[in-house]
Amino acid sequence: MNEHLLSMHDVTADDVIRILDTAESFREVGTRVIKKVPALRGRTVVNLFYENSTRTRISFELAAKRLSADVINFSSGGSSVSKGESLKDTALTLQAMGADAIVIRHSSSGSPFQLTRWVRGHVLNAGDGTHEHPTQALLDLYTMRERLGRLEGLRVGIVGDVLHSRVARSLSFGLVKMGADVTLVGPATLIPPDAPQWGVQVSYDLDEVLSKLDVCYLLRVQTERQRLEYFPSVREYARLFGLNRSRVRLLPEGSLIMHPGPMNRGVEIDSDVADLPQSVIEDQVTNGIAVRMALLYLLLGGRHGDGGEAGDG
Ligand code: NCD
Repeated sequence: MNEHLLSMHDVTADDVIRILDTAESFREVGTRVIKKVPALRGRTVVNLFYENSTRTRISFELAAKRLSADVINFSSGGSSVSKGESLKDTALTLQAMGADAIVIRHSSSGSPFQLTRWVRGHVLNAGDGTHEHPTQALLDLYTMRERLGRLEGLRVGIVGDVLHSRVARSLSFGLVKMGADVTLVGPATLIPPDAPQWGVQVSYDLDEVLSKLDVCYLLRVQTERQRLEYFPSVREYARLFGLNRSRVRLLPEGSLIMHPGPMNRGVEIDSDVADLPQSVIEDQVTNGIAVRMALLYLLLGGRHGDGGEAGDG
């Protein structure tokens, strides 16, 4: 595996299998009374979050703690960033304190890459602007493989605000790498013009694709990133692209409904649909911890071939 995880392009299909298999061994740790293994004892993981986050930050924190690493949570509010400190100076400070891994979320695409030029530790991208969010993609791949038994040949529709979604980019790259069949669905204004070069198909008609999906993956409408009017109204968006009960009936039996969170209930997904048994949104969150444990373990401490022992300690 690469030294850092900045993009899904940093991992091969074999790496993905190894990460998911390692995560499977860690999944069991989360079911124990004492949810801890000594794998990263004495190592320091810094969570550097310049953008709001609930699940990704907590998930990385729990992952590092369950591996017995020392964890420092840094958020831009309440730190010297509010006094004008640059990312570089913050990075150098963390470096001087001996950070072995830095998990970074930042509103600027490319900032995790920039960080790798300033620090010696391993950098994990926890979401950079509209660029990528590889750990989300990996936990989604884990959840699909766990529930449906395979990734190859899976038909996955990624629906909604693809243009502003780092999740959609990372997940598309990951799924295509694993041999899945991806269709991006949304209004033409929210589908990136270069999408066909990702190896995916594009559709502007959700009702037409639903019956051909194993997974219907909904994206949050990212109003905070939209600088233009991309659709006439939220009501119209929900009417054309929101997953409601009658649309769920078009999905084949056994198919999954997924969402990375946070959800806009009533916009991209109806509230009662989010709570259906075939919605695996909570599984995604639970699996996220195991997948991030696997990534920290493999980047920081893992030796080739001993991933299987990871959960035993
Ligand atoms: C995503 C993100 O922050 O990119 N959320 C997450 O990490 N769970 C998706 C989103 O904000 O819509």
